[in-house]
Amino acid sequence: MEFYRVLELRRTVRDFSDRKVEDDVLNKVLAAAFRAPTNDHLRQLEFVVVRGRENILRLVAPVAENTQRIQQAGLEAASQTMDRDEYAMFSDALPKQQLMLVESDCLVLPFFRQVGCPLCRPAEQSSLNYFASAWAAVENILLAATAEGLACAFRIPIGSEPEHVKQLVGAPGDYEFTCFLAIGYPAPDAHMCRQKTVRVEERIHRNGW
Ligand SMILES: Cc1cc2nc3c(=O)[nH]c(=O)nc-3n(C[C@H](O)[C@H](O)[C@H](O)COP(=O)(O)O)c2cc1C
Repeated sequence: MEFYRVLELRRTVRDFSDRKVEDDVLNKVLAAAFRAPTNDHLRQLEFVVVRGRENILRLVAPVAENTQRIQQAGLEAASQTMDRDEYAMFSDALPKQQLMLVESDCLVLPFFRQVGCPLCRPAEQSSLNYFASAWAAVENILLAATAEGLACAFRIPIGSEPEHVKQLVGAPGDYEFTCFLAIGYPAPDAHMCRQKTVRVEERIHRNGW
């Protein structure tokens, strides 16, 4: 697929069909991670792939409770502060946070090695280089998945979710994961949030802001 077409087609899709992602396609998509730039040329990425409803449910157990709390407390208040597109996205995304991870039947946990400082206590911006590299790799995965006709949705872990996952999968102590990444084929009626209109030329500042 032509590169700019891939960029156009990459969207967050939170509704998946039953069609399985074959291992060879998944491996090809995950290999794209190692084509992303990486700090210190480290490429310290590892992927845990979880399939099977029961296995995924066990991993994402705290997600439902955590999002329910946000949903109850936040959505109504959010309607006052968010713009129309943001609110529409949240209204669609929040109730699907657990289901989208289970329905894909292919949950990827992209792990990276975090050295020096704990992830949530960086000493300076460069302490986040490991995290930044890991996200550059995730973007490559999203684009490669799009080129394969696949859809992705991801959730950033909150609260007890990181520790719960790391313990269940037996991750080494100095590894963190970027997100819960669901990869699958989109449902025929998959919802897609309206894209924000951005006037790129207004975002580019020449020789100063
Ligand atoms: C840093 C970051 C965090 C995000 N966290 C979540 C999340 O926790 N759950 C979710 O469903 N989507 C999450 N998203 C997806 C965004 O909602 C989505 O990218 C945005 O609405 C734009 O839609 P698009 O991806 O279809 O262009 C996140 C995206 C980014 C870049």
